[in-house]
Amino acid sequence: MRQKLIAGNWKMNGLTEPGLSLAEELAQRMHRAVELNDPEPPNCDLLLCPPFTLLAPVWSALAGSGISLGGQDCHTEISGAHTGDISAMMLKDAGCTHVILGHSERRQDHGETDAGVKAKAQAAVEAGLVPIVCVGESEGERDSGSALSVIAGQVAGSLPSLVTGEEAVLAYEPIWAIGTGKTATPEDVAEVHGAIRALIAERDGEAAASNLRILYGGSVKPENAEALMATADVDGALVGGASLKADDFWAIAASCP
Ligand code: 13P
Repeated sequence: MRQKLIAGNWKMNGLTEPGLSLAEELAQRMHRAVELNDPEPPNCDLLLCPPFTLLAPVWSALAGSGISLGGQDCHTEISGAHTGDISAMMLKDAGCTHVILGHSERRQDHGETDAGVKAKAQAAVEAGLVPIVCVGESEGERDSGSALSVIAGQVAGSLPSLVTGEEAVLAYEPIWAIGTGKTATPEDVAEVHGAIRALIAERDGEAAASNLRILYGGSVKPENAEALMATADVDGALVGGASLKADDFWAIAASCP
């Protein structure tokens, strides 16, 4: 049984306040849950991915809470003349365990390609981080019936071939569902997640594929989380907007069966 992962992607949101208060509030809830069972601890792993500028204070706020820290991107090199970039080693050094890679917003805003994402994911694994590799189709691709083939191409192109199901996490985020309030139906999500797992099994063997966590992302909210988290092959969520509110993020975590 795979433990679910609920990851908050703060994107380019959060100054010291309210970012720090949000992290502190979640850390306090975890402490109360673990020590007093009030509320009950969520049945999942929790991860926060704030912007780079908040990694250090959020790391301090989360200390001892069991909530992990992640970055939102990294470079392919360990260090060097790359003004404005952050390496996987730097994220590791700042307390991160995970890094989101190939988010559709980066693919769109920065022209990131599958090959570039693959190189970053390789660098992340070498630095001891778990890459969360994002894939997902556009609305036009879904409407034209090519969603599954687009996603298969992204998985093949973005996930390093030697990376096993245990070393990486995949996130299925249909672009048309991000920040729009539209969510894929549990049936569509189950179909895509099942197809992704089958692809990984082909190259990685059934056992390793069975350990791969596949997250769903795209307008995940307290109202739809229960149905999504009960869907076959859904191993958690990558949450954008709702991760900026402690009550909503906690409610999504609490919806894990
Ligand atoms: P929303 O939850 O705001 O739709 O964002 C999803 C996302 O892109 C998470 O990476």
